Amino acid sequence: RYMSVYNDLSALGSELSKLTGIRKIIVVKGDADENTETVTLLGIEASRYLQSLLCPDMTVTVTGGSSTASIASHLAELPFDVTFTPARGGLGEDMIHQANFIVAKMAEFTGGHYETLYVPDQVSEKTYKNLIEEPSVRSVLDQIKSADIVVHGIGDASKMAARRRTDPEVRALLKQNHAVGEAFGYYYDKKGNIVYKVRTIGLQREDVLTKEHIIAVAGGTSKTEAISAYLRIAPPQTTLITDEAAAKQLLKAL
Ligand code: BG6
Repeated sequence: RYMSVYNDLSALGSELSKLTGIRKIIVVKGDADENTETVTLLGIEASRYLQSLLCPDMTVTVTGGSSTASIASHLAELPFDVTFTPARGGLGEDMIHQANFIVAKMAEFTGGHYETLYVPDQVSEKTYKNLIEEPSVRSVLDQIKSADIVVHGIGDASKMAARRRTDPEVRALLKQNHAVGEAFGYYYDKKGNIVYKVRTIGLQREDVLTKEHIIAVAGGTSKTEAISAYLRIAPPQTTLITDEAAAKQLLKAL
């Protein structure tokens, strides 16, 4: 029984990756909106995939969110060193959803290193410019730019704006521009046009485009529209770890 379910899900993943043109789509059982077990499965599969890519002295840059957070505790101790860096500074998230917290956990489980990036969202242009010239901030930014692997979540646009306590004016703008999804601070509409970008330092879309490996982790029926829109602009070297519920809806939408 388990084998046949697994085979169906892996066939579904292959079909979707063929249709979307991205490297690989791994589908886990269930619906992340409905049960936490599915969130755990997303974390297990993403950690397994990430571990298969890791080599000595690699740098992995990671965004915040509950999906990327689910990866950390499934990572096993590594016989070599890897550095984990937060992808973007100060996206206004709660502590447990922050990339700074997640990379610290990833380093703890693998026995690797981590860096932190604390940059508040609401600073004056002058403070902002001074801040990014700080040597400690600079060095993390350089590591993000040269990272070998990006791990990121994909969120529903309005949920992300609410979670980040985004200004009402920005929320109105997102609505007006029909934003459906969000990934690493970029909000986009259903065709994948970027309609708004959170002003913070760190990983930019142009950096993502040149990475050799990109792992996107997102599941749940409620994220179908966000995932489907993001897949229109996802670099081909992306591997998506998603769940059955989202994958089935994606197949219908394509
Ligand atoms: C945020 C990331 O922390 O998490 C976003 O900055 C991402 O880019 C979001 O879209 C996803 O969160 P979750 O909890 O739905 O995995």
